[in-house]
Amino acid sequence: MIALVTEPAHTHTTHVEDVPVVEAREGEVLVRTLEVGVCGTDREISEGLFGVAPEGEQLLVLGHESLAVVERDGYGFTRGQLVTATVRRSCGHCIACAEDSPDSCLTGDYSERGITRLHGYARELVAEDPEQLVAIPKSLGRLGVLAEPTSICERALRHARTIGGRQPWQLERALVIGAGAIGLLMTYLLRLADVEVWTASLEPENELVEQSGARYASTHDNELSELGKFDLVIEAAGNAQLMAQTLGLLRRSGIACLLGIDPRVQTVELDGPVLGVDTILENRVLFGSVNAHRQDWLAAVEDLDRARERWPEALEQFVTLRVPLDRFPEAFEHRGGKATLVLSD
Ligand code: BGC
Repeated sequence: MIALVTEPAHTHTTHVEDVPVVEAREGEVLVRTLEVGVCGTDREISEGLFGVAPEGEQLLVLGHESLAVVERDGYGFTRGQLVTATVRRSCGHCIACAEDSPDSCLTGDYSERGITRLHGYARELVAEDPEQLVAIPKSLGRLGVLAEPTSICERALRHARTIGGRQPWQLERALVIGAGAIGLLMTYLLRLADVEVWTASLEPENELVEQSGARYASTHDNELSELGKFDLVIEAAGNAQLMAQTLGLLRRSGIACLLGIDPRVQTVELDGPVLGVDTILENRVLFGSVNAHRQDWLAAVEDLDRARERWPEALEQFVTLRVPLDRFPEAFEHRGGKATLVLSD
């Protein structure tokens, strides 16, 4: 069977290869991959900057945003059922992983499908632990491929609400910086919760943002500070300078959440009094969030389906490129929407 593989830590080694057929062992469910989404992490791995192959192996099967179909009945799943699967697995020796929260792993020894020490989903068949599978409702169909990035947003929002809720706080006004898949999904989740949302990015306009009832600001002609202050600011552009600025965009008790990655070695600027005075006197918080707990996956699937009901045409426009596995370079180069690799119709 074919798979999209790469040699981690080596640049441009990604290619399609014939790999041995996977058999499900006792306790596993065999699933057939329909489609995998491509994100910045896949690009970083492919550029040799991130990722680890399974122990004793040279190649890593890519793909952590999966949509699959169950091949055989078993363990509460039925043949033909749509599923996705979690990414991160327990390190086996920390209290967070012991409580089924590898998203909060305290050692960093976790493994991640398609990223760290575990093969991913960009191959025709995968044998999966049923506890890691998440059912996708029929109504969601191929949009189920968005479950993984949505789970990242759900975790961030759950944590923001928990942090905000440590004291009286209202989430009325939010700013999302970045209009890639995470920025757009975040915009739609916040709109589902009837929050007033501004989404800012470089392009002159963004129809998908406006279709959700959020307002769009092009950073080309607007300073973020002109948009006023916010209860919640999400950085999903992956720009460390903007990340530093988020603290200055907050209202009293405001929360800034960082989701984009910016690995560039650089010094960023932040006005001294924003950190030294306002953050203290106004009880502001800046935090980062990665990965997702199972509860976030369940919330993601439910909210994606609610969003599809409310904005059916808009949701269909989230995936802007669908190509077969062998055309992966196009998907990796694609910007301006989610690109997916199709393994089966
Ligand atoms: C994935 C997360 C993962 C993170 C770090 C992201 O692209 O969505 O699930 O934890 O990369 O490896």
